[in-house]
Amino acid sequence: MRRPEVVGTVADLLERLDAARAAGASVGFVPTMGYLHQGHASLIDAAVAADDLTVVSIFVNPLQFVPGEDLADYPRDLDADLARCGEHGADLVFHPTAAEVYPEGTDEPVAVGAIGGSLEGASRPTHFDGVATVVARLFRIVGRCRAYFGEKDFQQLAVVHRMVADLELPVEVMGCPIVRESDGLALSSRNIYLEPDERRQAPVLYRALLSGVAAVEGGGVDPVAVVGAMEAVLADAPDLAVDYAALVESDTFAVPERIATGSEVRLLVAGRLGRARLIDNVGATAP
Ligand code: PAF
Repeated sequence: MRRPEVVGTVADLLERLDAARAAGASVGFVPTMGYLHQGHASLIDAAVAADDLTVVSIFVNPLQFVPGEDLADYPRDLDADLARCGEHGADLVFHPTAAEVYPEGTDEPVAVGAIGGSLEGASRPTHFDGVATVVARLFRIVGRCRAYFGEKDFQQLAVVHRMVADLELPVEVMGCPIVRESDGLALSSRNIYLEPDERRQAPVLYRALLSGVAAVEGGGVDPVAVVGAMEAVLADAPDLAVDYAALVESDTFAVPERIATGSEVRLLVAGRLGRARLIDNVGATAP
């Protein structure tokens, strides 16, 4: 099996990128925090299919963890990650230190606007500023590329879209579908934290979302009623501490007063099961 080349410095990465671009190659970029699963692999597959050179970054970004979160214990397995990158055809892995990513320190974060203020942004203040700061930095290093993100972090995807537009970065942001276990649980590096009984309860998030989709697609126009339907399903899991269940407009993240005919909405849920904080979402189109 082919192992990708691993570079740890910006200078080495740029040398490889410059050489590839001089030969006419397009660059696909998959930013990750490692502990890669099939969801990440699907992003690598998408990049390999569309671009000539696929770069995966593996960097656990301290800025996006809020105090009390799992920065110190965040799961890491570089060997397995490199094997997975190789199996899926990635060419290059950028595995930098924090000093390499933030050579001048991190005291000038990129601030995220209203789109990052609700839901995850409300539950985890400063999280999206941390995400935007590292993604902007990585985009500036990698330069012109297509960048692949999973829709599981749907609000993150919206934040990144907005940031790329605001900063006029030469990056085409590609959202890729969520990859799920057969029982509906969305893949996440943090699923490793689930104890067996919590793992059995975890698909309730997806079931709740499906009940919301049924309500919207069945002609429900009241967002409060749709959220109520999702909350009723979430209540089936005795150990789930629900953080939020929400319905927003897909592009703005605004909460509509009424679900308009033909409109695209996003249903999102988040909660904590034991040590694992789980999030999930699906889209729905009103009839
Ligand atoms: O989605 C993630 O894994 C992270 O938030 C990202 C985009 C790699 C930034 O650290």
